[in-house]
Amino acid sequence: MDAPCRIRSATPADVPALVAIERRAFSDPWTDVSFREALTSPWTFGLAAETGRGVAGYLVGREVAGTGEVLNLAVAPEFRRRGIGGALLDAGLAAFRRRRVDEVFLEVRESNRSAQALYLGCGFRAVGQRAAYYRNPREDALVLRLEMTQRA
Ligand SMILES: CC(C)(COP(=O)(O)OP(=O)(O)OC[C@H]1O[C@@H](n2cnc3c(N)ncnc32)[C@H](O)[C@@H]1OP(=O)(O)O)[C@@H](O)C(=O)NCCC(=O)NCCS
Repeated sequence: MDAPCRIRSATPADVPALVAIERRAFSDPWTDVSFREALTSPWTFGLAAETGRGVAGYLVGREVAGTGEVLNLAVAPEFRRRGIGGALLDAGLAAFRRRRVDEVFLEVRESNRSAQALYLGCGFRAVGQRAAYYRNPREDALVLRLEMTQRA
């Protein structure tokens, strides 16, 4: 990686930085309220990738009854392809492992080939599809799953 970053827990103080990245990364972005709720619930956690130039990306995960979900992941455009998304995903999977989850799911737009490449490279596999899951533009989601024992 040519942009060293430190992965740490995200806190409510990070919300403005996360929202700013979110709005550049997604056509149907999470709101300030969505991030605040995710960073204060006991069932969810947030990770931030801190660089010398501030927060470059984040991941939000949730655990329910032994199942993990990656709810959100983004890297600011100027920091992409430097390993930050992969570092966030590795740290998120480590957090799920510490919480002893058996499997991790996530949804990704069918057209989002770059994110799919990242997830497939980490061992996720397609297990389903959700019709018209996304808005703006309307699009199906691929459902990906990672069995945690494979990476234990
Ligand atoms: C998906 C995203 C988080 C990847 O972040 P990143 O920091 O660029 O990812 P990394 O540099 O760690 O890339 C890891 C691997 O993912 C794959 N990948 C990432 N971007 C890619 C691209 N544009 N094209 C093809 N493969 C890509 C590659 O396999 C890459 O490994 P490599 O660089 O050794 O080839 C980033 O592109 C992003 O924020 N996209 C917009 C938001 C989004 O789509 N989030 C996911 C929603 S499900």
